[in-house]
Amino acid sequence: MAGQVTIPDLLKKRQAGSKITMLTAADCPTARLIDGAGVDIILVGDSLGMATLGYPSTVQVTMREMLHHAKAVRRGVRRALLIGDMPFMSFNRSVDDAVRNAGRFLKEAGCDAVKVEGGQGSLESLEAVKGIHRAGIPVMGHLGLTPQTAVQVGGFKVQGRTAEAAAALVAAARQLEQAGCFGVVLECLPVEVGRAVTERLSIPTIGIGAGPDCDGQVLVTHDLLGMSPDAVPRFVRAFARLHETIARAAGDYRSAVENGGFPGAEESYRMPPEELKKLEGLLRG
Ligand code: KIV
Repeated sequence: MAGQVTIPDLLKKRQAGSKITMLTAADCPTARLIDGAGVDIILVGDSLGMATLGYPSTVQVTMREMLHHAKAVRRGVRRALLIGDMPFMSFNRSVDDAVRNAGRFLKEAGCDAVKVEGGQGSLESLEAVKGIHRAGIPVMGHLGLTPQTAVQVGGFKVQGRTAEAAAALVAAARQLEQAGCFGVVLECLPVEVGRAVTERLSIPTIGIGAGPDCDGQVLVTHDLLGMSPDAVPRFVRAFARLHETIARAAGDYRSAVENGGFPGAEESYRMPPEELKKLEGLLRG
């Protein structure tokens, strides 16, 4: 795929049976590396509240924080489709609010699209999606485990395990498609439910813990990089163990400073000898 990734490109990939790749980013240098690796979609996910800002959940994240990070990520992205994640209470109060906040992601941060969590049993998410779509702003849905409302869906656990719950998820996904979503994230669902939703939609599904049959996959980049020594959900695969690399580098730095090994001659600047001589004269008085 040459040039900037567009929404029709994602649809073409689905139709061709080529998998879509998506990762999160919260800062410019990480976004630049991910973009350079050829990932199709970069999401400024509200998971940055936990992964980057140290909040206990995503509920605390504000529009101001999301826009701050989205602007930084924008500066690092040239090719991928850039999506801003609508934080909790940025779309839940009214459709007007939802459209205004979605517009801020495009106008102020330069995002290409937004993502809205919820839809199953969440009328305000569905109405928000409709309003945002009507306003001409590309919008992605997010079903299954929706961290902003994890308490309502029974906590951080697999969703759609009963036939009724699975059927409700399929119905909710269809509603999101009809409401104008160009794609939908499916989080933490049995493989069979990921497949059932994917087979019944004509827009791409992007899974995170929803099995291999989704049209694409997304991971939180901090998890992919192994940035934290803490336990991660079963669906995460750490493709690196950066927490070990970072901790080792910081420890090596500390030892080198403490034992006088850093900085060495190669990391130090020297005055020209004639200037040094002159200085010694000046300092002698
Ligand atoms: O906030 C986020 O990172 C997300 C992904 C898990 C899809 O919504």
